[in-house]
Amino acid sequence: MYDVIGVGFGPSNLALAIAAGERGAASPRALFLERQAKFGWHRGMLIEDATMQVSFLKDLVTLRNPASEFSFLTYLHGNGRLIDFINHKTLFPLRIEFHDYLEWAASKVADVVRYDREVQAVRPVRTNGVIDAFEVTSAGQGGTSVDVTRNLVLGVGLKPYLPAGVDRSDRVWHNQELLTRVRELDGRTPRRFVVVGAGQSAAEVTAYLHETFPKSEVCAVFSRFGYSPADDSPFANRVFDPDAVDEFYSAPEDVKQMVLDYHGNTNYSVVDGELIEALYSRQYRERVLGTQRLRTFNVSRVADVVETGEEATVTIESLSTGQKTELAADVVVYCTGYRPADPVLLLGEMGELCRRDQEGRVKVGRDYRVQTTSELQAGIYLQGGGTEHTHGLASSLLSNTAIRAGEIVESIVIAKATLETDADVPTVVPDFADSL
Ligand code: FDA
Repeated sequence: MYDVIGVGFGPSNLALAIAAGERGAASPRALFLERQAKFGWHRGMLIEDATMQVSFLKDLVTLRNPASEFSFLTYLHGNGRLIDFINHKTLFPLRIEFHDYLEWAASKVADVVRYDREVQAVRPVRTNGVIDAFEVTSAGQGGTSVDVTRNLVLGVGLKPYLPAGVDRSDRVWHNQELLTRVRELDGRTPRRFVVVGAGQSAAEVTAYLHETFPKSEVCAVFSRFGYSPADDSPFANRVFDPDAVDEFYSAPEDVKQMVLDYHGNTNYSVVDGELIEALYSRQYRERVLGTQRLRTFNVSRVADVVETGEEATVTIESLSTGQKTELAADVVVYCTGYRPADPVLLLGEMGELCRRDQEGRVKVGRDYRVQTTSELQAGIYLQGGGTEHTHGLASSLLSNTAIRAGEIVESIVIAKATLETDADVPTVVPDFADSL
């Protein structure tokens, strides 16, 4: 019987594994199940010169425990780069470097992780009519296994989103798989790429393809007038602070929505200012040279993609004039973002026992525990995008990962202690969800 099983082992549950381990003798007994064969954080987008969008000080641990041996600074020190990093005078490491940091941290807690395990089902374990544990079924190359736990932490990340009617194919990609797909081109040079979207990923993909394929045309298509800069100014950045979670959580619904609307441009459909400048410079330089290879179709949408054997015919429609332009393209890359999956889908019939708000969204406590009916006493915790409506904009990002992981571990430890204290007392099932 584990105290906690974490489903997925991205940065969120990695931070949780560390936070659990750092409680020493009081550490909950934890296991993490990850479907990838080894640790990997958005590998398809590890573009060589892409940098982090968050300060390295918001690593897996520092905000919770600045003295932790799992900090980015400890990683740098161990790799002999601390002084070079300091001289670099940046808060934003290369994404590839941060990935290396995450891999390093993951290797230090390898004893609590099983890779190549996809969690496929979670079933109830009942005692005296109450669900007080879960049976977790996972599968991989090594077959199927079942583990039992008192608490579940779902850290399964977001799902790549494609517009309705668009399916992936050899010519139609989501940027999530960019580098894998580019490798599969095996040295072939596409004549034309179409990149859909105007967020950070779209801008990065546009710049990357333009640089990597100096003979290819790259057409960026988006409905905005132009790429818009991410608001990373200090006052706005406070929306990611640990305290902001408290304020957001207790705010009325309309205020929550107001904050999300005001500050969505810290993260969604926006681009790092330097990258915008760089893309503009490239396009302008090409105009001067008369060799325009980087084209932008603004206030436009991709209306249709028809694949023939040799290529794809992409119809781009201007939203202002309705004019349609047909382009023969070799590849269309959709950089259309990610969406949270229904977090309780894995729970099967137990999903019915999770409380939902008027809009059908799962109700989540301040400690990230899903609110359930009294029949379900074992804990289900959510990490990641599924809690944006309750805990705010930091939910799907790294900013608050260290603190959130600590809070979830705390909640699990308190619940365990309560259970042990009450062990001799006859079972009276409090409907804690109603009191929240
Ligand atoms: P994440 O998606 O990383 O991990 C989920 C894990 O669960 C995956 O490893 C997956 O394989 C596994 N999994 C899913 N279902 C499973 C199942 N049924 N069984 C077993 N395993 C399962 N944020 C930020 O703050 N600063 C930044 O600079 C960036 N940069 C950035 C770049 C790119 C390219 C992307 C796409 C995103 C970012 N982000 C970001 C946001 C990003 O969501 C965030 O950095 C973390 O990936 C969130 O970590 P999680 O562990 O919650 O999800």
